[in-house]
Amino acid sequence: MTTGVARHAKLRLQILMRTPSSSQVLFVSLCLSGLALLTACGGGSYGGGGNNNNPPPVTATLAQNAAKHNLKVGAAADSQFLVSDSTYGSVLGSEFNELTAENEMKFQSVAPNSPTESYTGADALVSFAQTHQMAVRGHTLVWHSQVPSWVTPTDTTTQLNTILQNHINSEMTHFAGKVYAWDVVNEAFNDDGSGSTPATVRSTIWYDNPGIGFAGQGTAYIEQAMFWAHAADPTAKLFYNDYNIETQNPKSDAVYLMAQDFTNRGVPLNGIGFQFHVDLSFDNPNVLASVTSNFQRFAALGLEIHITELDIRLSDSSAASFAAQAKLYGELAAICLQQPKCTTFQTWGFTDKYSWIPGFFTGMGWALPWDANYQKKPAYTSLLTAFQ
Ligand code: XIL
Repeated sequence: MTTGVARHAKLRLQILMRTPSSSQVLFVSLCLSGLALLTACGGGSYGGGGNNNNPPPVTATLAQNAAKHNLKVGAAADSQFLVSDSTYGSVLGSEFNELTAENEMKFQSVAPNSPTESYTGADALVSFAQTHQMAVRGHTLVWHSQVPSWVTPTDTTTQLNTILQNHINSEMTHFAGKVYAWDVVNEAFNDDGSGSTPATVRSTIWYDNPGIGFAGQGTAYIEQAMFWAHAADPTAKLFYNDYNIETQNPKSDAVYLMAQDFTNRGVPLNGIGFQFHVDLSFDNPNVLASVTSNFQRFAALGLEIHITELDIRLSDSSAASFAAQAKLYGELAAICLQQPKCTTFQTWGFTDKYSWIPGFFTGMGWALPWDANYQKKPAYTSLLTAFQ
């Protein structure tokens, strides 16, 4: 197992040993010839070799920096913008080494009218990822939301069981070898529980309304989905993904108990996806310490930790809000880097132009590292520096 210390020692070694790339040579020569701004050259000291306090070269990308930590840095994406907006693809393809489908792999997207699945949008994303040497995370197979309208609670348990197994099998088979990790089950717990009482399993069409045959049996239907997923693509990493489980709380306790049970009994489960749709109130030392200890307890089960849907919503676009947002982005990146099992850091989109936040959180927005005109916000610089 790679420890955090080893990860950082390795990074230092890479910095000391690496041969400057042509872009770095160009950067240094621009600095030496006085053409670049002094600030952009790190006070003229870049190239001194191995000083981690220097800012990253201006030519570095998030992906280049994150890769030095064996960390994947990803974004949720939508194929329609690859077609309609050329800047979208050029930022996505150059700054990230992973992508996930914001909507196009969901059940409703792949089978809107009938059980026959088609993957046009998702295939376009995968093809873009392959062209740009990016990994693909699959999102998501079992969820109570964005279910096709032809699937209804009037279907019998037997029918729903078949429908769900076929869906998992069809989609995972289609993307086998192309999607390395799947959010098999999404948001299956309620936001209840209190104190040491863990949250309960959410009532959904897949659990108990009428469910696939495990109503009233807690996480048994999730277990069934994991076994189907493992059978469909034995090489894919399988994740449970949820929101409000970032800190230690009754909901993450429920997920932890499930994860412990699954790992003890050999139910296929490779990791937990922590969504991280947060606001500035998350920037609190107790909250951040709780994220660290929460990650640690899941890591101790041998599970991978993926930050899957990070965005930090704001109520205004002031410089102060952007600065506070940047600080929190950096702190979350640092927490992930310090945890060897934290292997993916994804944001939910990357430009404010297409973020889901204004449509779902009234009065909020400005949640991502690029603004709506693709200008890099302070949050971007903060991430770049954290991944340096
Ligand atoms: C959201 C998308 O961003 C929206 O475009 C869509 O209308 C609704 O779903 N948690 C999840 C994601 O797991 O799938 C959700 O994505 C955001 C919350």
